[in-house]
Amino acid sequence: MAKYNTGIRISELKDGELRAFEAGGKRILITLKEGTPYALDDKCTHEGGSLSEGYVDGCEVICPLHAAAFDIKTGKANDNTHWATDIGSYAAYADASSGEIIVEV
Ligand code: FES
Repeated sequence: MAKYNTGIRISELKDGELRAFEAGGKRILITLKEGTPYALDDKCTHEGGSLSEGYVDGCEVICPLHAAAFDIKTGKANDNTHWATDIGSYAAYADASSGEIIVEV
């Protein structure tokens, strides 16, 4: 596991906003929920949709292609969208001095 600086300050990110960046050869999705940053795979397990191009509904991120829903905090696929399986989730936090979001992938 390695730490990656997303270069995104937590103060720049709005609640429910979706951003993507590359880390460890993967596209990672960053979002903010009630002031806490979360990091997930940016690739849907159904047909590879880019989840950062979808949207947040409550505590879930929704795939833009066929609407699979994933828990922001855990990456668990919603049982009602059984065509997709769980995605990876990663530790994310704001650096104490710079405020930039760090992700462990
Ligand atoms: S690619 Fe995400 S639901 Fe089909």
